[in-house]
Amino acid sequence: MLKLDKVSKMYAKGGVRAVDGLSLDVRPGEVFGFIGPNGAGKTTTIKLITGILSPDEGSIIIGGVPIDNDPIAAKRKLGYVPDAQDAYDRLTGLEYLNFMCDMYGVSSADRARRVRALSERFELSGALSGVVKGYSRGMKQKLALIGALVHNPPLWILDEPMVGLDPHAVHVIKRQMRAHCAAGNTVFFSTHVLDVAERLCDRIGILQKGRLIAVGTLDELRSGETGASLEKVFLELTGDSAEGDWDE
Ligand SMILES: Nc1ncnc2c1ncn2[C@@H]1O[C@H](COP(=O)(O)OP(=O)(O)OP(=O)(O)O)[C@@H](O)[C@H]1O
Ligand SMILES: [Mg+2]
Repeated sequence: MLKLDKVSKMYAKGGVRAVDGLSLDVRPGEVFGFIGPNGAGKTTTIKLITGILSPDEGSIIIGGVPIDNDPIAAKRKLGYVPDAQDAYDRLTGLEYLNFMCDMYGVSSADRARRVRALSERFELSGALSGVVKGYSRGMKQKLALIGALVHNPPLWILDEPMVGLDPHAVHVIKRQMRAHCAAGNTVFFSTHVLDVAERLCDRIGILQKGRLIAVGTLDELRSGETGASLEKVFLELTGDSAEGDWDE
């Protein structure tokens, strides 16, 4: 569903590679979690997949379509929730969702049904007539989540989607991610919430300094260490030496 082949990206000429020779194959129907320390290159990778940035090297294929060959066709296959919501302040929630439906060519029959179902699910129905400027951070996040799903994309990409959401909304989004996959779609998301990743993901990739240092199911990442939590595996693989140094 999503294939990255030796993708690299530098922000400044001659600088460090924010993403460094990254190859990844995300399969149809899976929830794939992308984790890694701050600055590892997760957001940069997601911006490359969504076409916001272009890779210096390597190729990205979405649902069989190389993004550099046919960017519009490739982007039609995905719904994207960025890590910060700070645009479209002047629109009402409903205007924003209609705008997203227009962008993705959602028919008027489908849009009414999907907007209603999704906004009820995320408990945002009552706020849709208000301007986005007056929304709380969590409400903006919910609106972005709905806006990225209105065209029912085969690939749903989310950059740290749980940030700023209340426990109920986190529960809804987890269910929505599983439901999206159960309907034959694919979910790719970054997170620092490792216990959520542990329970939600079919497979997990760990990025460090732009490189994929591990990928697989939780069992595969544990490599024989039965029952180890994802947090423990993560701290070991990313070389955190602070464990045990604390007086508790
Ligand atoms: N716009 C930018 N200009 C220059 N360097 C950037 C820019 N955005 C990111 N970087 C650098 O690229 C590297 C990867 O950053 P990125 O935001 O992709 O990491 P991340 O894994 O998403 O981190 P976090 O967990 O903090 O969100 C970092 O070294 C960062 O300083
Ligand atoms: Mg990030």
